[in-house]
Amino acid sequence: MIVLKSEAEIALLRQACRVVAQAHDMLRERLRPGVTTGQIDAWVEEFLLRHGARPAFKGYRGYPATSCTSVNDEVVHGIPGERVLQEGDIIAVDIGAFVDGFCGDMAWTYPIGAVSELAQKLLRVTEEALYKGIEQAIVGRRLSDIGHAIQQHVEEAGFSVVRDFVGHGIGRAMHEEPQIPNYGPPGRGVRLKEGMTLAIEPMVNAGDWRVRVLEDNWTVVTADGSLSAHFEHTVAVRPGQAEILTLL
Ligand code: MF3
Ligand code: CO
Repeated sequence: MIVLKSEAEIALLRQACRVVAQAHDMLRERLRPGVTTGQIDAWVEEFLLRHGARPAFKGYRGYPATSCTSVNDEVVHGIPGERVLQEGDIIAVDIGAFVDGFCGDMAWTYPIGAVSELAQKLLRVTEEALYKGIEQAIVGRRLSDIGHAIQQHVEEAGFSVVRDFVGHGIGRAMHEEPQIPNYGPPGRGVRLKEGMTLAIEPMVNAGDWRVRVLEDNWTVVTADGSLSAHFEHTVAVRPGQAEILTLL
């Protein structure tokens, strides 16, 4: 069942999303060579707690940290730790937090110093694909129009869309119905309505779409070792144009 939110509930969700977006803003300036992924996680946790937010990932199915930090060929769910960022790396940071009973969720992939042309293109195309998907999150469209728009943009650029992980409804729970694949035919699935709140999150590989999970049972990497990027916004479905809740 898809839980529709009232305007009052969307206002609460907006608060959670704002804190998550602010946490990303705080990070943006601090990410540089020499920083460890564990340091990033500590900054994020401290920021969330100081802003009255509760980390949504910590303890979720036993996940041990506040953020996910996925470097280079890591697709999603990289666990923060001792890894030191190097010039030329790309790092996806995923942050979720609860404020007043609602969960905001946002991921962004950042370049560390100067990165390769390929990495620059991957970041640009994946961010563009996120916005192509968001353009479809309007009243009257069907659910699969989102994933179709994402896939089309990604594949035109010669990249591939990860199939094993999907976007999701979001609200009082981090993961609500519906699941939102980042691929597929247009015109299928439920019709989008006012009151639906969605986390749209394309994961894009520079090479093949296949992935595998490391022995830590969390870190997802590309099967072929190619670079991967992840961008996510939490949005509210509106007539004509979606409202991006994780935008400052
Ligand atoms: N943004 C991710 C998601 O929507 C983050 C989940 S990480 C987990 O599923 F550790 F909480 F699982
Ligand atoms: Co998410």
